[in-house]
Amino acid sequence: MEKYVIRGGKQLHGEIEVSGAKNAAVAIIPAALMVDGVCRLENIPQISDADMLMTILEHLGAKVRAVNSNTVDIDCTNVRYTDAPYDLMRKIRASYYLIGAMLGRFGAAKTTMPGGCNLGARPIDQHIKGMNALGADVEVAGGFVYANTPDGKLHGARIYLDKVSVGATMNIILAASMARGRTVIENAAKEPHIVDLANFLNSMGADVRGAGTDSVKVNGVERLHGGSYTIIPDQIEAGTYMVACAAAGGEIRIKNVIPRHLESISAKLREMGVTIIEGEDSVVVKSSGKLHRVNVKTMPYPGFPTDMQPQVATALCLAGGTSVITEGIYDNRFKYTNELRKMGAQIQVDGRTAVIEGVDRLTGAPVAACDLRAGAAMVIAGLCAEGTTYVEDIHYIERGYENFVGKLRSLGADIALVSEPDEPGSIKSASAG
Ligand code: EPU
Repeated sequence: MEKYVIRGGKQLHGEIEVSGAKNAAVAIIPAALMVDGVCRLENIPQISDADMLMTILEHLGAKVRAVNSNTVDIDCTNVRYTDAPYDLMRKIRASYYLIGAMLGRFGAAKTTMPGGCNLGARPIDQHIKGMNALGADVEVAGGFVYANTPDGKLHGARIYLDKVSVGATMNIILAASMARGRTVIENAAKEPHIVDLANFLNSMGADVRGAGTDSVKVNGVERLHGGSYTIIPDQIEAGTYMVACAAAGGEIRIKNVIPRHLESISAKLREMGVTIIEGEDSVVVKSSGKLHRVNVKTMPYPGFPTDMQPQVATALCLAGGTSVITEGIYDNRFKYTNELRKMGAQIQVDGRTAVIEGVDRLTGAPVAACDLRAGAAMVIAGLCAEGTTYVEDIHYIERGYENFVGKLRSLGADIALVSEPDEPGSIKSASAG
């Protein structure tokens, strides 16, 4: 079993560079399936979700070649409609993008129901509604999603999403890119990775307009051609380091960011008493580690991102006063608070609201990463705690953070990845059932 061992109490100092955005990469890699030719993708993060998606494409006949550690060439010229490795698909949320991409390319798709972090019910009804509107018959049976088109083609349509959904917006954009005619998606999500997917598709010959607004128009094209594209920096990775520095104290420069994408996070940190200085493509974070209480409500972009909620809640455990966190996206994104309580945090959770009483100190403890962002939050807690924190189930963290330990160590954190055999009585076996 691998775990992180963190000796807390060190301030963070220095510079790090943010990797490519996970939630853009996990849509753009499946999108490459629709391209007749070679896509060169630059700034691909080295994370397990991206690796799994490239393996799935290889099973479908794609040639994937690493050019360097963050650049790959994906050639989908000879892909075929065949069974994909379902055990891999099941593990990741973003496998749902293969529905849109396969429908666009083959006029049919078979995938598993998507996996991903367990944050409460995560239906895909809006994806299915979109595919139905484009003319696909979609059936969910036995854990699989089957989608077919009667005449082998999708047809443009007007689609109003009942819920603002990142995944449904991107999936419909994918499918509509190669549909016949014009599609309009109303009440679309506006996250930066939606704009990035649209830019990627347009650079390969698609015609997607209005991405980043709540009304996206897609004029379907016959064919997408090869090209080269650089993925945007990861807003959530940058935000995680910003909060880590805010909580642990210190001064860091985070490079390769788009400061506009970080506005809601920077604004909240300023309210907490942290100094944020924005450069053209970097931010400097300065913090004494003494934070003010704030309230936080997560919302779709440009609101405060749900994917930063566990990290900021962790920082607020050490702020002066009472903070209230309202989770606006998911039913169940507070499981990690049980782990923080083991470290001395004072948090009451009622449904989608958590009330945090700031305490003077957290103490190191063995804790588990319950999901990707919860895992990042445990690491932040460990950086601030007195004593040693052991974070288990770190495979969740590796799904979305490239070289997390290396980057934190370069900022002076005392964190190490250790491997040891599973033992009876470890957190994993103790919490089973
Ligand atoms: N929803 C529906 N029906 C749908 C789709 C979504 O009811 O058909 C609901 C969801 O249950 C949720 C809300 O709508 O309550 C928003 O879900 P959304 O579709 O926007 O999320 P997602 O596509 O499943 C992506 C990211 C998540 C991130 C959310 C919100 C990927 C692979 N995942 O998920 O990322 O939290 O958008 O920004 O892009 C993470 O990176 O840690 C992560 C969980």
